[in-house]
Amino acid sequence: MSNTHISPSGRSRLDTRHLLSIADLHRPDIDSLLDLGETYLDLSVQKDARNNVLAGKTLINLFFENSTRTEKSFELAGRRLGADVINMSMATSSASKGETLLDTATTLNAMNPDLLVIRHSASGAPALLSQKVSCAVINAGDGAHEHPTQALLDALTLRTRLGGVDGLRIAICGDILHSRVARSNVQLLNILGAEVRLIGPPTLIPLDADQWGVEVYHDMESGLKGCDVVMMLRLQLERMSGSFVPSKREYFHFYGLDQRKLEYAAPGALVMHPGPMNRGVEINSDIADDPDISLITRQVETGVAMRMAILHLLSQSGGVDA
Ligand code: NCD
Repeated sequence: MSNTHISPSGRSRLDTRHLLSIADLHRPDIDSLLDLGETYLDLSVQKDARNNVLAGKTLINLFFENSTRTEKSFELAGRRLGADVINMSMATSSASKGETLLDTATTLNAMNPDLLVIRHSASGAPALLSQKVSCAVINAGDGAHEHPTQALLDALTLRTRLGGVDGLRIAICGDILHSRVARSNVQLLNILGAEVRLIGPPTLIPLDADQWGVEVYHDMESGLKGCDVVMMLRLQLERMSGSFVPSKREYFHFYGLDQRKLEYAAPGALVMHPGPMNRGVEINSDIADDPDISLITRQVETGVAMRMAILHLLSQSGGVDA
């Protein structure tokens, strides 16, 4: 693929050097990212989504938490753009020998990477790292804080399937309290003009959620009414200290998505889930595996194209000499 195919219809750089939060992005940045993501997605269908925009650049994937989709997606995106990609699984690195995040940052900085993708269990770790390294930093999920690249890929998934996000009524359901996906998605979907609802038991809805520009519901029947899109979230047991729901079985009874509850939503409503899914806990297999209803596989496919666009535009935005 020649590089002439790849310039986005918007601007070719972003106003931000790092992608730590959706709040880093102005509307023109978001439009440029989604436009370029769509170009890469179209090209991937033609098996032509490969170029050398990042040739000679180094991308380090620094994952302090396990990841299947996100890490592999960034790896593939970096390789398709011609970067040298290094994956550092920090559970097996010097971090487990007691090295601090800042020492790790200093060590990595000495290797002169151009782009650093980080996932960490502590909210704010990517922001801290961005102050200590001289390259662009991308937040691939920090604690329960943010996951901006997931929100962008979700928006691109909706845009390519439904033509846009503006005016859609979207319910985000389940464990909102521990979800970085929900925090990034609420911000982005609001910017893009969707009507966002949160549905979950009171124990799993943050106390300040009424200030997020959303409507909060505690039951699926009223919350899903008229929704075009239903985004389900995993019960993030690894982030819970103590018990937030009586049992998984009871949780499914009230909040798990099955055909019966989906009927409360608008006719033809589509279902999303960032993965990994807990079948029978927050979602039933008959929904998750129905290609007419579920966008879940499509989200993974779109994720690679979206991350190509993110790496591409950030590499031209001050963090890296393009
Ligand atoms: C999410 C995450 O890690 O925050 N998954 C993902 O990135 N695809 C959601 C989750 O873990 O439930």
